[in-house]
Amino acid sequence: MLIKIRKKSDLKESQITDHSVYLNRRSIIKTLAFTAVTIPFVKPAQAGLFNLFSENENGSDNSGVIFARSKLEYLKNSNHQSLSPITPEKKILQYNNFYEFGTGKADPFEYAGQFKVDPWSLTIDGLVDKAITLNYDDLLKRFVIEERLYRMRCVEAWSMNIPWLGFSLASLIKLASPKSAAKFVRFETLYDPKQMRGQGSSRIGGGIDYPYIEGLRLDEAINPLTLLSVGLYGKTLAPQNGAPVRLVVPWKYGFKSIKSIVRITLTDKAPVNTWQKIAPSEYGFFANVNPDVDHPRWSQESERFIGEGNLFAQTRKQTLPFNGYQEEVADLYKGLDLKRYF
Ligand code: MTE
Repeated sequence: MLIKIRKKSDLKESQITDHSVYLNRRSIIKTLAFTAVTIPFVKPAQAGLFNLFSENENGSDNSGVIFARSKLEYLKNSNHQSLSPITPEKKILQYNNFYEFGTGKADPFEYAGQFKVDPWSLTIDGLVDKAITLNYDDLLKRFVIEERLYRMRCVEAWSMNIPWLGFSLASLIKLASPKSAAKFVRFETLYDPKQMRGQGSSRIGGGIDYPYIEGLRLDEAINPLTLLSVGLYGKTLAPQNGAPVRLVVPWKYGFKSIKSIVRITLTDKAPVNTWQKIAPSEYGFFANVNPDVDHPRWSQESERFIGEGNLFAQTRKQTLPFNGYQEEVADLYKGLDLKRYF
């Protein structure tokens, strides 16, 4: 995610075709976006990232504390074969956006290894008849965990195919018995600056006013595609992917898929999400993947798919409306001007 720092013509995502341009971009973001503090050009964590995407793939696995993930029992999903290739697990674990641990793609892997996910408490409250609080075991045992292979498309124009494990958000919302006045759902990430270095430092955390907040309309939240994920690749989530529980809304840009959730509140007003608050002209409430609506500073027509091999050699693929889930979700937006409500 980028904070608005330059004019439209200065730097476009489509220009990012090789190492040097990529490095330059990261440098610009880091030096201009947040403070006047001078930051080294390539930090050790970023060096790890470049190793990860180097040709021989013998990249560093040991830059951070490797978080121990447990095996999960789950129902195998029949759509498993329909998306290919699946992004390698290593890249899903080491190329992340989780600003609470730093704004670099390798920072979450580097700095989240000691994050405590058990005990955990997730509260569902607000306009409901039965507020619920789930603990760590509830998240892993109370619901039928299934595998869902979904595309993920980041607003920064890169994408992955990820085999998530989780349960439908609808099943949890149903348990809480929403009141008829409930129209929206607000999500909140843990606030714990002692564990999340970016929350205690504006420079490290990208100047975000934490906790990270997201929101959905209630009908989006109970759509069968909307998942509360507790794992991937057959195991519980690693902290850098949002352990112990994160949202996955596959037809929306990745920033909607909020990580490490502690509160889900049903409300009658549309929540203002974190990125909307920072740059309302760039990031909307809906954030549906849409190749026809460009980000003000780059095109959304295509994306860099992160699969096997060298990141910088990969070709772009065409971005699909609603990230390929048009059939399942386009009806939710009938009559809505998607250019205006981006
Ligand atoms: N959730 C929180 N709390 N903080 C974040 O910085 N980044 C978002 C989203 N959820 C983010 C977050 C963005 S921009 C993306 S693209 C996805 O997480 C990335 O998920 P991944 O790192 O598991 O691929």
